Amino acid sequence: MRKPIIAGNWKMNNTASEGVELVKALKPLVKDAKCEVVVCVPAIDIPAVKKAIHGSKIRLGAQNVHFAEKGAYTGEISANMLKEYGVQYVIIGHSERRAYFGETDETVNKRTLAALNAGLTPIVCIGESLEERESGLTQKVLDRQIAADFAGVEDLSKLVIAYEPIWAIGTGKTATDEQANEAIAYIRKRCKKLYPGKNAGRMRIQYGGSMNAKNCKGLMAQPEIDGGLIGGASLKPADFAAIVHFDK
Ligand code: 13P
Repeated sequence: MRKPIIAGNWKMNNTASEGVELVKALKPLVKDAKCEVVVCVPAIDIPAVKKAIHGSKIRLGAQNVHFAEKGAYTGEISANMLKEYGVQYVIIGHSERRAYFGETDETVNKRTLAALNAGLTPIVCIGESLEERESGLTQKVLDRQIAADFAGVEDLSKLVIAYEPIWAIGTGKTATDEQANEAIAYIRKRCKKLYPGKNAGRMRIQYGGSMNAKNCKGLMAQPEIDGGLIGGASLKPADFAAIVHFDK
């Protein structure tokens, strides 16, 4: 059994005080959650949000982590810095970081290994662009990302994959339940093949891309989909809580 995980990716939204207000509103709404509930917040919000979620089911996540332990990397944050603040999860390789900040499969792999090494749970984002999907390249792109991003990972069940087709992010254009399920089934099959004996069967795979309070039920009912990585809808407590309670 894989425990479902619903994670909010706030992206570059919410100052620390706004973030505190959001989680204060969210706390009572998710107190009976059966799944894992995570908020991935801007780094500077971490201390305040950590205090605000105390005593609740909400877990804390970051949106990026550097791969070095320490050193001359101006503007970066290490896994140990996150860890010391009680951060448990970290998004790695989001398509926005790949598109706007030069993230490559190689750096995604290095960040993933560093996060695992520090005891954080990476939420590693993979997925194809619209052009790649329309040219029939989805599986090829996933193959490349799976081979590169997870190289050297000893136990795949210690990380979470977020399948986020780029064309579905922030566009309101969700993958159909079947499209999402099919891609996620493929990712698991491929991981099992490429990394035998590394627990790919127990690894959780989320769907991300315009998931909302309405479409979450259909997506989460699919056998291969173990959760969601939620952008826009995670900024509204009632909407995010409705996704957390997808089974109600
Ligand atoms: P949206 O839910 O806003 O489409 O964003 C998805 C996403 O990128 C989560 O990481």
